[in-house]
Amino acid sequence: MEGPRPPLENEFPNVVKFLDSQLRSNEGWSITSEYPVAISEANRNNIRIITESDEVLAHAVIRPMIIKAPAGLFKVAGLGSVVTSSEHRNQGLSSKTIESCLEAAQAHGCDFAILWTNIYDFYRKFGFELAGSELSCLLDRDLDLAAFSSANDGELKFVDGNKVAPEAIYRLYAQHTVTSLRSVDETRKYLQIPNSRVYTAWNSRGVLKAYAIEGKGADLNSYVHEWGGGVSALLPLFSHIRKTQGRSITVIIPQHAQNLRRAFESQRIAINQGYLGMIKILNFQNLFAKIKRHSRHLGIQDFVLDTQMVPDANGVPVRKFFIGSRNQVFITNSEHDIVRLLFGPAKASQIHNFGPESKVIEKVLPINMWVWGWDSI
Ligand SMILES: CC(C)(COP(=O)(O)OP(=O)(O)OC[C@H]1O[C@@H](n2cnc3c(N)ncnc32)[C@H](O)[C@@H]1OP(=O)(O)O)[C@@H](O)C(=O)NCCC(=O)NCCS
Repeated sequence: MEGPRPPLENEFPNVVKFLDSQLRSNEGWSITSEYPVAISEANRNNIRIITESDEVLAHAVIRPMIIKAPAGLFKVAGLGSVVTSSEHRNQGLSSKTIESCLEAAQAHGCDFAILWTNIYDFYRKFGFELAGSELSCLLDRDLDLAAFSSANDGELKFVDGNKVAPEAIYRLYAQHTVTSLRSVDETRKYLQIPNSRVYTAWNSRGVLKAYAIEGKGADLNSYVHEWGGGVSALLPLFSHIRKTQGRSITVIIPQHAQNLRRAFESQRIAINQGYLGMIKILNFQNLFAKIKRHSRHLGIQDFVLDTQMVPDANGVPVRKFFIGSRNQVFITNSEHDIVRLLFGPAKASQIHNFGPESKVIEKVLPINMWVWGWDSI
């Protein structure tokens, strides 16, 4: 057996064949069309495979992203397409490809890694924890749109289909407070992903006011997982999608999308609180330094967030975390609690009794974080 290692150039087609047979055997398209950047020749060095006599047995990939958020610029590794061929499972192969991917992410200087899965305990073994916020808003009936018509825009015109200039989508996308940096060219590729239904709303002057995307490849059927634009155009657009499709749709939004959240609440739309994904911190020092800088921007000078390796009773070094303010510092060795404190969705006071310090901590944490599409739109 060989690996984990990146595939050689001439092995790449075999890797795609392996993934298609394991993960997309019924779809009629290749997984490369769903993950055009992650599973591509250009990202080959971030792919890890294990092989035996030219046959691929296991695979995992990371895609480093830059996320711009109010708390700063974060380098984040999206981890995905983790799979071992059915005849070779339970021999530790995926554990090896995952560990190797995480080492690569660390070498890239990533602050944290994130993934989406339903096998939580499997990933907890590698230090991942469910964290961050995602709100699911179920549109199961007509919206009252009277309050959302904008006098400036006249009647909105809706267009269904992906023949939209990526530049126009990009312009609205860039207005989000938390974005993953994407090029216009990546946006163009993402608009072509199979089963991604693209809907746009235009004003009477032909200006794009909102866009929304439902479905993506084999996943997210009936979920609007990406959107952009102002609430006054988005609500009519969501309503249009629901009517066109003749079924309920769920719009997923970040916790910090407060205007949209309030608009849904005023329509009595059911909102479910979920997790952004499973997160593992890769570089504590870097990440903590960014968050402390952010706390100073917020006017909080004495926020404490640090980590050190400290010998335990047997002299074995263990990682300790320090959090609080100049008045009182709390110590924990739970990496899981730190991830939850940093990214939410729980507030500090729901995780631990920090007494009066919880006020200081909650001014800074959790930070606003969101990933618009792991290699998709
Ligand atoms: C999940 C998967 C990647 C594990 O690969 P693997 O090479 O067998 O993994 P490893 O041998 O390194 O680890 C096996 C361990 O994972 C556990 N595991 C496997 N599938 C699991 C599941 N669905 N839920 C929880 N634990 C699971 C095994 O019980 C075993 O635990 P142990 O080490 O305590 O005995 C493999 O089963 C697979 O390819 N599944 C189909 C694709 C998939 O679901 N990928 C994950 C998408 S996020």
